[in-house]
Amino acid sequence: VPRIRNILLENKAWVAEKTEINPEYFSELSKDQAPLYLWIGCSDSRVNPNEITGTALGEMFVHRNIANLVHEDDLNLMSVIAYGVNYLSIKHIIVCGHYGCGGIKSALTDQSFGIIDGWLVKIKKLIKSRKQDLDGISDETEKVNRLVDLNVIEQVRTLSEIDFLSNAVAERGITIHGWVYQMGSGKLKELVRIDGQSTSKI
Ligand code: CO
Repeated sequence: VPRIRNILLENKAWVAEKTEINPEYFSELSKDQAPLYLWIGCSDSRVNPNEITGTALGEMFVHRNIANLVHEDDLNLMSVIAYGVNYLSIKHIIVCGHYGCGGIKSALTDQSFGIIDGWLVKIKKLIKSRKQDLDGISDETEKVNRLVDLNVIEQVRTLSEIDFLSNAVAERGITIHGWVYQMGSGKLKELVRIDGQSTSKI
């Protein structure tokens, strides 16, 4: 059986399991969604937000792209954020990077990756502005991971400067979190947090 068939079979097994535990599982879920968390993460196949946070279906609104970037002119992400904070019940926005990120590694090279180069421009700019910091790290893995941290903090900063969002943060008690997923251990680490009152580097 080709693998794609296996995925469809797995779905059948999953439906059967969920329904056996709670016959109303799907009818309850299909009524509405009221997630408290908005996850902005990398598309990396090893960083599944529900799985690594133990959240269930319905608990997390999700946007993912290469290297978890926040571009102010990204209509896709901006719509997700606006819908999440204005029409859903989002209380926490989590930007989550991960160590060993391919997008971050790529941005650190001089190689061209075709259409992806345009996406990575924001990381290239960050590399330039933090050149001294990064040049001081000789170990390549450490350098990538340092940039992963800096990149998360930078995207949180960008979020905090979006007008419609900063109003929501101040008025509705929304908190913006910057986290990193440590690929080698599976553990999440907090890097920064912004709420209505303060910014704290953790
Ligand atoms: Co990545």
